[in-house]
Amino acid sequence: MEKLSASEVLTNNYTVQVATTEHLHLAEAICHEMEESAKARGTGIAKRSPEYLRDKINEGKAIIATDSEGNFIGFCYVETWEHGKFVANSGLIVKPEWRKYGIAKAVKARAFELSRTRYPDAKIIGITTSLAVMKINSELGYEPTTFSELPVNDAFWKGCQSCVNYDVLTRTDRKHCLCTGMIFDPEWERKKAEREKEGDEANVENVQEETHEKWNFLKDVKVLERLKNIKEKMFLKMAERRANKLTVNRD
Ligand SMILES: CC(C)(COP(=O)(O)OP(=O)(O)OC[C@H]1O[C@@H](n2cnc3c(N)ncnc32)[C@H](O)[C@@H]1OP(=O)(O)O)[C@@H](O)C(=O)NCCC(=O)NCCS
Repeated sequence: MEKLSASEVLTNNYTVQVATTEHLHLAEAICHEMEESAKARGTGIAKRSPEYLRDKINEGKAIIATDSEGNFIGFCYVETWEHGKFVANSGLIVKPEWRKYGIAKAVKARAFELSRTRYPDAKIIGITTSLAVMKINSELGYEPTTFSELPVNDAFWKGCQSCVNYDVLTRTDRKHCLCTGMIFDPEWERKKAEREKEGDEANVENVQEETHEKWNFLKDVKVLERLKNIKEKMFLKMAERRANKLTVNRD
């Protein structure tokens, strides 16, 4: 086996790396775990076939975490939209028995690094209901965003079709759903670096304020939780009203 770089060997117990052809045989196990996890969360079955994951591995666009015996314990892959204008690190999954040990954090960090290297000008985006993922993303520099800032093409939103909340997304004309959209724009860092290079002491202190202030996830987490509850209740009521209307019309 090829020697791993220092940043890829994380602990004695597990390894996080860009997946190689050596990991192709794990695609079925990863897909199975994604399906089981979607069922457990009640979010429907995400449409990712083993073939699709194998393509991602062959393209060098997948990150895998394996245990000391080479079994898969975590995974995620890189997708591009609108000719590389947007990049998403999707399909994040960690095997249940390995959760809460920082594996998702390590996998996402490696996917972020890969995305920045391969697509330095792309905006890195994601949509999620998971507070754990929001926390990880915020630490990487993502911020919450409106859906209007995300890719407009149908191919991007097609990924949502297998979610149980897809109806909400279509009813709101792709403006709202239970997920929160997040974005990292490399332009923020570029602008900050430019200002810092200018070297003006007074400016350096104001750079953050004038260019871009990093989002404080922990400050907003309670609001996010409340917002998620409100959204859930609101969209449920909308669905109920619609169901009642249909019954009345049928009567
Ligand atoms: C979401 C998921 C990937 C997290 O994996 P994980 O390896 O347990 O996450 P980590 O241990 O790296 O935790 C990252 C951070 O999120 C926090 N976190 C983890 N689970 C959490 C939860 N259920 N609620 C809130 N915060 C959580 C951790 O405390 C950690 O923060 P810290 O560094 O301050 O302690 C995993 O639970 C999973 O596979 N779930 C099913 C699939 C899924 O939901 N995928 C995301 C689709 S967008």
